[in-house]
Amino acid sequence: MRRILVTGALGQIGSELVPALRDRFDADGVVASDVRMAPAAIATAEGPFEYVDCVHIRQIDEVVRRFGIDTIYHLAALLSAVAEEKPRVAWDVNMGGLYRVLEVARQHRCAVFLPSSIGAFGPTTPRQGTPQETIQRPTTMYGITKVASELLCDYYAERFGIDTRGLRLPGLVSHVAPPGGGTTDWAVEIFHHAVRHRRYTCFLRADSRLDMMYMPDAVRAMIELMEADPSRLRHRNAFNVTSMSFTPTELAEKIREHVPDFAIDYEVDPLRQSIADSWPDAVDDSAAREEWGWKPQWDMEAMARDMLEQLRRKLPGRA
Ligand SMILES: NC(=O)c1ccc[n+]([C@@H]2O[C@H](COP(=O)([O-])OP(=O)(O)OC[C@H]3O[C@@H](n4cnc5c(N)ncnc54)[C@H](O)[C@@H]3O)[C@@H](O)[C@H]2O)c1
Repeated sequence: MRRILVTGALGQIGSELVPALRDRFDADGVVASDVRMAPAAIATAEGPFEYVDCVHIRQIDEVVRRFGIDTIYHLAALLSAVAEEKPRVAWDVNMGGLYRVLEVARQHRCAVFLPSSIGAFGPTTPRQGTPQETIQRPTTMYGITKVASELLCDYYAERFGIDTRGLRLPGLVSHVAPPGGGTTDWAVEIFHHAVRHRRYTCFLRADSRLDMMYMPDAVRAMIELMEADPSRLRHRNAFNVTSMSFTPTELAEKIREHVPDFAIDYEVDPLRQSIADSWPDAVDDSAAREEWGWKPQWDMEAMARDMLEQLRRKLPGRA
């Protein structure tokens, strides 16, 4: 049985990863943590919750010791659009937090999962079928921290024998927790607006194509990678993974099949558009498929149907 610490657990991913880990392992052995205080329901009912600010090594170390942690899912980070607004804080949290997590992992021999991102690519990266190993010259603070994080995790694996693993996640769509200020947040907002108002003003251009994934696929990928046979993992810290790739126009058309009077218009945010323009259209995830059996289960049609069903249940009386 693993004993797991999840940092940044109150965010978009942690809100679904923690319950999935608690279902799979002993719920008391999965410690959720964040720099925000947990809502009362999360803090008490479902399993342990601890306040951990990842830039303070003592706080990480104390929780790892107290709970006998052997695996850390390190989710705490600033996302792409927020990182561009606060580049210094993004550097401190994204790099400083990871460095301290890796140091604690080195001392206590913990395995570490790190979510990298398609943001680790840049404008000179091939946009179509982006290879597993390719040019990575990102032009955002977020991307710079993600490339450096991939390399730092490789370093701790090679230099200190720490079992670090990671995924380059695409934009994630989910209905449980709101997204935390990324460039692909539009793909979540659009569903809320379709159900509440039957219209949405998108902050990216109509033709902005990006890789995407529905959260159940992402959560499964994170757990499966950490369970995979280590002897088969050549690209341990930065596996390309994707489920689908679409533009705002294409997703709006899909939503219209379920909400016929849904309308979309565009008010482009130059900051987020420039970030999106620097990322690939569709990555090649064959290394993940070969090395640990990655296979997406959700396409755009299934995701759109499920998102609308779930949100209609939460927002009764809406479209
Ligand atoms: N959501 C996506 O679409 C996506 C895509 C690719 C990669 N990722 C990566 O996955 C990870 C988690 O993403 P998310 O979408 O859940 O982000 P989020 O913004 O929703 O959640 C991040 C959490 O980290 C916490 N946090 C911030 N600073 C902290 C600190 N110093 N110590 C502890 N906690 C702190 C925040 O309070 C928040 O709850 C990030 O590394 C992100 O870059 C996310």
